[in-house]
Amino acid sequence: MSRSNENIVLIGMMGTGKTTVSSLLADRLGYKLVDIDAEIEAQEDCPIPVLFEQKGEAYFREVETSVLLRVLDQSSQIISTGGGSVLKPLNCDAMKKAGWVVALTASAEAIIRRVSANRDRPLLAGNVEERVHQIMRERQSKYSFADLTVDTSEMEPEEVVCYILAHHR
Ligand code: S3P
Repeated sequence: MSRSNENIVLIGMMGTGKTTVSSLLADRLGYKLVDIDAEIEAQEDCPIPVLFEQKGEAYFREVETSVLLRVLDQSSQIISTGGGSVLKPLNCDAMKKAGWVVALTASAEAIIRRVSANRDRPLLAGNVEERVHQIMRERQSKYSFADLTVDTSEMEPEEVVCYILAHHR
């Protein structure tokens, strides 16, 4: 696949800015925007919190993989993934093959501030601060396969987009 139509795949923890940044990037590049969480909700005709509650996380992960693999089959897309999509090595291999992978990171403080505004994430039920720290510890190393990593803690989404475009291979 040539560079001009390669997918750009955004990975990273919840609250690192994937949704906002991917939408701005799609506008800038004229690429199709694909949000994996939204695709899952459309395919299952069910909001993610309800899916977790009724079918459990293992089922959600299976659907996440099948949706991701289907989407990665196309090109010229900005793909915003869910924070847990890196949990399966199969998903990571497929992302790496089908696109340029950008990891967004942020400090625990920035993530907690951002996710507290929207409490629709089943994995953050209970004590948000504790859950964020725990998930960060469990997953930190799993985002390291990215081609580019951007710490968004102190950046506005537009700045993140400029940084990504400046480093686009
Ligand atoms: C999840 C992150 C969410 C969503 C689901 C599980 C995770 O996506 O896929 O709630 O395991 O980190 P965002 O990263 O877009 O919030």
